Amino acid sequence: MRLALRFVLPLVLALTGVAYALVPLVDQLTLRWFVRDLDMRSTLIADTLYEPLQERLETGKETKIESFFNRITRDERLFAIGYCSAPDAAVLASRLMPKDLLCSSLSRWEQPGDHLLLSSQGPLHVAVITLSGETGALGKLAILHDMSFISRRSEETKRYVLYLFMGLAAVISLITVIIAQLSWRGWMTGMRNVLRGEVLSRRPGIDSRPELREFKPIARDLQILIRELEADTRARDESQMTWTPETLRAILHGELRGGDIIVVSNREPYIHQRRGDRIEVQRPASGLVTAMEPIMRACSGTWIAHGSGSADREVVDMNDRVAVPPEKPSYQIRRLWLSREEEIGYYYGFANEGIWPLCHIAHVRPTFRSRDWAQYVAVNKKFARAVVSEAKTPNPVVLVQDYHFALLPKMIREELPDATIITFWHIPWPNPESFSICPWAQDVITGLLGSSILGFHTQFHCNNFVDTIDRLMEARVDRETFDVSFGGKLTAVRRYPISIAWPPEPDLLLKDLTMCRADVRRINDLPAGHKLGVGVDRLDYTKGIIERFQAIERLLELNPQWIGHFSFVQIAAPTRAEIDEYQHHEAHVRTVAMRINSRFERQGPPPILLKVEHHEPTDVYEYFRAADLCFVSSLHDGMNLVAKEFVAARDDERGVLILSQFTGASRELPEALIVNPYDADQCAAALLLALTMPDSEQRDRMRLMRGLVAEFNVFRWAGRMLLDAAVMRRHNRLIGAGPTGAA
Ligand code: G6P
Repeated sequence: MRLALRFVLPLVLALTGVAYALVPLVDQLTLRWFVRDLDMRSTLIADTLYEPLQERLETGKETKIESFFNRITRDERLFAIGYCSAPDAAVLASRLMPKDLLCSSLSRWEQPGDHLLLSSQGPLHVAVITLSGETGALGKLAILHDMSFISRRSEETKRYVLYLFMGLAAVISLITVIIAQLSWRGWMTGMRNVLRGEVLSRRPGIDSRPELREFKPIARDLQILIRELEADTRARDESQMTWTPETLRAILHGELRGGDIIVVSNREPYIHQRRGDRIEVQRPASGLVTAMEPIMRACSGTWIAHGSGSADREVVDMNDRVAVPPEKPSYQIRRLWLSREEEIGYYYGFANEGIWPLCHIAHVRPTFRSRDWAQYVAVNKKFARAVVSEAKTPNPVVLVQDYHFALLPKMIREELPDATIITFWHIPWPNPESFSICPWAQDVITGLLGSSILGFHTQFHCNNFVDTIDRLMEARVDRETFDVSFGGKLTAVRRYPISIAWPPEPDLLLKDLTMCRADVRRINDLPAGHKLGVGVDRLDYTKGIIERFQAIERLLELNPQWIGHFSFVQIAAPTRAEIDEYQHHEAHVRTVAMRINSRFERQGPPPILLKVEHHEPTDVYEYFRAADLCFVSSLHDGMNLVAKEFVAARDDERGVLILSQFTGASRELPEALIVNPYDADQCAAALLLALTMPDSEQRDRMRLMRGLVAEFNVFRWAGRMLLDAAVMRRHNRLIGAGPTGAA
C-alpha cells in the first residue's frame, strides 16, 4: 500500500502539471476555431440579409431597418447589426450596437486579425462585410457576435482536460501498481530461492520447482556477496572484541535475543561423591568440561548430563536438578539416571569401545555390537526427551557435546523444529575409509546432520567429515562454504578451535610460584633444585603416556648426567576403567614406569612419579607452576587443553611445553617444542632442549603462547558459534526458512 501511494501521488501530480501546461494551447486552438465559425456565420447572415435590406432601403424606411435588425438580434449569440451606406453616414443599427462603432471606423475591421472588440458589454466578434449584388455595392454591414460564451467554454475545457488527465493518472498508476506488485512478488520469490540456494541446487528432471533461469547469473554472485558481508562483519567484530564472560552474555542477550541455552553432555561438570558421611564435590578430568563450564557460568541455562556420582541423587531437587557451582550457583545441572544396561551399552560399549577408537588413530581396534547400538539409540532418545522438557521456548539454543550424542541433533530437530542446534565433536573425525567401518555410519551422520552448526577443532577434521558424507550419503556438499544440504535442511560444518577460560580462575593462580615449586618437591621427596617435568592426562591409550615414558628413558640413556637430577610427575586420572582395553593400558603404564624407575633408581630420586588418581584443578595447577617442563605426547587428540592450561598457569613466563604434532593444539602453539611421540629419539632431544633452555628463550616462547591463549580463549570459541548461529537465524528469518534453512 505504501509503495502504491509512493508511486501514485507523484504520477497524479506530474499529470496535473502537464494538464495545466496544455490548457492555454487548447484555449488558443478552440478560440481560432470559434472565430473561423463566427466569420462564416457572419458571411451567411450578410447573404441572407442582402435582399430584405435592399427592399427596405429602396422604400427609404430607415426606422424599419433598425427594427428589422432588432428582430434579428434576438438570436442569443448575435449581439448587434449595423448598416453603413457610406463612410461618413450614420450607422443604422440594432439597439445594443456599441456607440463607438462608427461608419468611419469600419474599415479597421476589414483588415486580417482576430476581430475582437472588448466593449463594456463584454468581448465581441466584429465582422464587416461589403454588401454587393447585381445592382452594385449597397454599403457595409457590421455583424457583432457575443464572445463571452468562449471564455465560458474555455473554463469548461480546462476542467475537462484536468479531469481527463487525473483519470488517466489514476488508471495508469493502478495498472502499473498491479503489474509491479505481481512482478515484485515473483521477484522476491525468485530472490528467496536464490538465497536458499535452490536456483543453484535445482536438479533438472528431479526437482519439480520451476527453473528460474533469469536468476541464475546473479544467484552465485549474490550468495558470495552475502557470505562475504557476513564474514567481513564477523571478522571485524571479532577482531575488535575482547572475549570475556560479559561479551558472551552480550551476544546471548543481544544477537540471540536472550535465547534459552541448554547444554547436553555425557559427563557432568560437578560430580557429588559420598565419602563416608561426607559428600564431596568433584570436578572431572575432561577437556569438554574444562571448556564448557566457564561458558555456562557466563550464560546460565541448563546443563543436562548423566548423573554418575555416588551422591548425585542425594543432592538434586524433585526435578533432578541441582544449582552449581556450589560456591556461587549460576546455572542448573539436570541429571539423567542411566540403568546399568544403558551405561554398559551406550557409554562403555558404543561410545567408548566403538566410536572413540574409531575416531582416534591410536591403533586400538573399535568394537561394534548391536546390543550396544540399541542402548546408544535408547539413551540418545532419553536425552532428547529431557531437552524437550527443559526447553522454555520453542526455539532454544541447544549445545550438543561430543560423540556420545551423535543421534541427538536429529531427534531434537524432530521435536523442536525451530531450535538452533550447535553440535561440537570434541574428538578427531577420521577419513571416510576408517569411518565406514562403523556398521551404523549412515545413522550416525544422519543424526549429526540434524544440527544447524556442526563444529570440529581443525579444518582437517571438517574435511574428513565432508569427505565421509560425500562417500556415504546422498547429500549435497558445498565445498566453498562447507554447508551440507541433506533432506532439504542445511548444516554448516565449521572449524572452532576450543580453548580455556582467560584469565584462569583466580584460585588456580593464588599460590605463589616459589611456594608451588618448593611444596611439590617437598611432597615428592625431591631435592630443592631438582628438575621437574609434568604430564596430566586421563589414563587413556590415546594420550601416549607409554611413549612419553620411553622418551624419558631414552633421554637418560643418551644423557646419563640427568639421572637423579630430573624426574617426571605423571598425573593419570582413572577413566573408563570397566573397559578391558583401559585396564590393560593401565597395567602397561604401571609396568613401563616401574621398569624405567628400577633401571635408574639407584642413582637418586626415581625418574617417573606415576600418580594414578583424581586431582582437583587447584592441585593440577600447582604441578604446572612447579614444573620446568610439561610434556603432552598424545598419539591423536582433537585439541588437548592440558597444553593450554600449562601455558595459562605460567604467569612467570617460564617453563617449556613439549607438544605432540598429533594434537589440534600444535597448530595453534607453534612456539612449543613440537614432536612426533612415536619417535623416542626426537622426544628425548626435545626433553634435553627443554631442560637446558635459557630463561630468555623460555620467556619469549611462553609470552607468545600466552598471548594466543588469551586472545583465542574459550569465550571466543563459544562466542563465534553463537554469532554464527545468530547470523543463521537472521538469514533464515530473511528468507522465511526454518532454523536449518528448511523452507
Ligand atoms: C574426552 C571426551 C569428553 C569426555 C572426556 C572424559 O575429552 O571428548 O567427552 O568427557 O574425554 O572422558 P569420560 O569418559 O570420563 O567422560
